[in-house]
Amino acid sequence: MNNRMAGKAETSAGRYEPCSGGDRMRSIAIILDEHRSLAAILHGMLYLVRAIKNDRATPDFRLFAAMVYYIDAFPERFHHPKEETYLFRLLRRRDPTAGPLLDQLHAEHRSGEVKIRELASALKRYERVGGNSFEAFADAVDSYATFHWRHMRTEEDQILPLARQHLTDSDWDEIDDAFAGNADPMLGAKVGDEYEALFRRIANLAPPPIGVGPER
Ligand SMILES: [Fe+2]
Repeated sequence: MNNRMAGKAETSAGRYEPCSGGDRMRSIAIILDEHRSLAAILHGMLYLVRAIKNDRATPDFRLFAAMVYYIDAFPERFHHPKEETYLFRLLRRRDPTAGPLLDQLHAEHRSGEVKIRELASALKRYERVGGNSFEAFADAVDSYATFHWRHMRTEEDQILPLARQHLTDSDWDEIDDAFAGNADPMLGAKVGDEYEALFRRIANLAPPPIGVGPER
């Protein structure tokens, strides 16, 4: 698909190449790819909101609901648990100076849950009431996207370099193994494929230039 969401092009991610030495640190490539997927959905939402604001599109609530579901379920149930349970835990052990930053990221994971609830209820209200409630929905999308980009940038610019510097080979074995789903199938590639399928469904619903769905 030659579109922005399928290409996952716009993101703060992508500064790290996958480890060239075999499969070690494969988890870093997975984290960056998951950030790219999230960033693509956030860019898509912002684009659609702007198009509605400029009278270039009518709202597609089925698409918005799928996007909100994705940015709710994918980080909360799949992405953050892997970071917290494996990467953050082992980095805290190897580099105690990273503690305050890891505390901040943990706290952001929790406040992200609140923010996504606010976004979901703003969307429900916009669908039910319409009119002026669009502004509150647009603000919620903007606020969540800004919050989450900043969060992902901190992980990429600060946590991943520290992890590369301080984690041992056996730490990476444990992290990579977990990211492959060998420790918990709910965090593995099979579940990842289900989110990938949802991502493709969203790309198929979204109009050009962000997806390949019908024009609205
Ligand atoms: Fe992350």
